[in-house]
Amino acid sequence: MSHLVAPSLLSADFAQLNSTIELLDKSDADWVHLDVMDGHFVPNFTFGMMIVKAINSLTQKPLDVHLMIAQPERYIEQFRQAGADIITVHYEACTHVHRIVQQIKDTGAKAGVALNPATPVVMLEDILEMLDVVLIMSVNPGFGGQKFIYHTIPKIRKLRQMLEVHNAHALIEVDGGIGLQNAEEVLRAGARILVAGSSIFGSSDPLHTIAQMKQIDSQRYFV
Ligand code: DX5
Ligand code: ZN
Repeated sequence: MSHLVAPSLLSADFAQLNSTIELLDKSDADWVHLDVMDGHFVPNFTFGMMIVKAINSLTQKPLDVHLMIAQPERYIEQFRQAGADIITVHYEACTHVHRIVQQIKDTGAKAGVALNPATPVVMLEDILEMLDVVLIMSVNPGFGGQKFIYHTIPKIRKLRQMLEVHNAHALIEVDGGIGLQNAEEVLRAGARILVAGSSIFGSSDPLHTIAQMKQIDSQRYFV
């Protein structure tokens, strides 16, 4: 398996949602990354399950739903019904992470847990085997177009070692400030899924940028 590229719609023009999804559908993108924000867990609002459902009706690609919301357990089933294939909750937003991961898996979706830049990877050590995805935030969540926080790189390496020790198979997803200038370094550290918003939708040719991001030869970094 090659690495996956998951464009984040956050930086796309929502007035052109149809044509954006059409473009993604014919692109090399593997997943469509959807950033749900509640103005509470993060200082910004985006959209909820209605829009996820609308996007689901427009695309064949798996929907990677990143919930930046407080008490996400209230809405897991609804996001699944709206078409989410992967549901990722924030460690910092959950009191009972183990229960919520189980709740996600019970819906049939793949389960992910995201860690803010200040949350150490060791917080997930006891539930690693349950997870399909660990999402390492490389910016503070809430906005697109921020600068990549560099200490993410050693953090990815550490998580990769932890996964090996536990013989766990979660894929490492990295989100925030990723573009062609640093994608290879992120993959070399151990990431398997690259999320990118502004570097794709802010480029003059998003299709080409996705293709270039996909073409990085990451196989040699796989363990
Ligand atoms: C930030 C979101 C990201 C964001 C990435 O809170 O989770 O998915 O859209 O955008 P860029 O790639 O512009 O940092
Ligand atoms: Zn995201």
